Amino acid sequence: MNWEKFYSERAKGLRASEIRELLKMTQKPDIISFGGGLPNPESYDIKHVRECIDYVMETKAKKALQYGTTEGYSRLREFLAEYMTEKGYDSSPENIIITAGSQQGLDLVSKVFIDKDDTVITESPSYLGGLSAFRAYLARIEAVPLQDDGMDLDLLEERLRSEKKPKFIYVVSTYQNPSGICMSSEKRKRIAEMSLEYDVPIIEDNPYSELAFSSEPPEPILAHSDGNVLYLGTFSKTFSPGIRVAWICGPSEIIKKLVIAKQSTDLCSNVLSQRMVYEYCKRGYWKENIKKIREMYRRKRDIMLKAMEEYFPEGVKWTRPEGGLFLWVTLPEYIDTREMFKDAIKNKVAYVVGTAFAGGKNTMRLNFSYPSDEEIVEGIKRLGEVIKSRMK
Ligand SMILES: Cc1ncc(COP(=O)(O)O)c(C=O)c1O
Repeated sequence: MNWEKFYSERAKGLRASEIRELLKMTQKPDIISFGGGLPNPESYDIKHVRECIDYVMETKAKKALQYGTTEGYSRLREFLAEYMTEKGYDSSPENIIITAGSQQGLDLVSKVFIDKDDTVITESPSYLGGLSAFRAYLARIEAVPLQDDGMDLDLLEERLRSEKKPKFIYVVSTYQNPSGICMSSEKRKRIAEMSLEYDVPIIEDNPYSELAFSSEPPEPILAHSDGNVLYLGTFSKTFSPGIRVAWICGPSEIIKKLVIAKQSTDLCSNVLSQRMVYEYCKRGYWKENIKKIREMYRRKRDIMLKAMEEYFPEGVKWTRPEGGLFLWVTLPEYIDTREMFKDAIKNKVAYVVGTAFAGGKNTMRLNFSYPSDEEIVEGIKRLGEVIKSRMK
């Protein structure tokens, strides 16, 4: 049977990501890869996770193995409502839905808001998984460039003044993936005001704010909102991406709509995971683990920055992220990082090309959380050689 002729309009547009194909090449054991975006396995607090799983299975197994409510485990929602209140947004459990990762959150948001040919405003560069989710619902993406302190809000305002209103503005506000850039507090206030003034909601995706290296992260845009911001948070970067537990926080009427949208997606998120995460948080292990991860990633970021100073030629620029997992490199305009990729693989080092994130042809993303300290130094040295060979 020719199945293709039965595809929906949406499915016809779905393509295997070229980037994932490129990343497959980086998985050979002798290649040092700055390409992935994985947490370091050393960040997993296995002893305490086991303690929490054992507790749930010994005392609550019959509930943990049962279906749960679509909005999520009530105790975890209570915990997260308190957490979001601490972050500056007065919340109760009605403001929280648990999702299977923030990626599901992005899919549900798209399902609820996007019609074919709607416009979504994103940063440039932006998170690939976000762009894919919006495109899967046939949105048109309009990208507004990032500056050192976040999205260029003058350009955004120009866009918002035009006649065809976008459906929403998508912002990865803190230690952004892919650039590592953090939106300043002034811009957070201003974008929240602009969203109200021009009547366009903001989707704030904030998976990295817990990973602040020196000071505390700025307050979320959500903290400046008045019913106009929806916030996505996740346990993927601070606990485990494999357990797939994340949350969306925002006005209760939108949460209710998302709950209905989620019912037809998966009925409920993994109940055992949610109960285990709740135990982990309640016992104070989450906050302790966050401290440990911050130190580890700060060290790795410092090692990478130092190696770049030493091995990258003049004319190359990079961001100095204050948190998160990534930094962003800009080469001279005449160097195309996609073409350079084969040289890099030959030299046994890998990165992700910036165009994957709607960034410039001469840009790339480097991940510093996953490789070992030694691999970071050696990999940057190899990458430095590759870049030098392309310099005029
Ligand atoms: C900006 C951003 N949003 C969402 C996600 C998805 O995270 P999760 O594991 O919670 O689905 C990621 C993961 O890399 C991300 O970088």
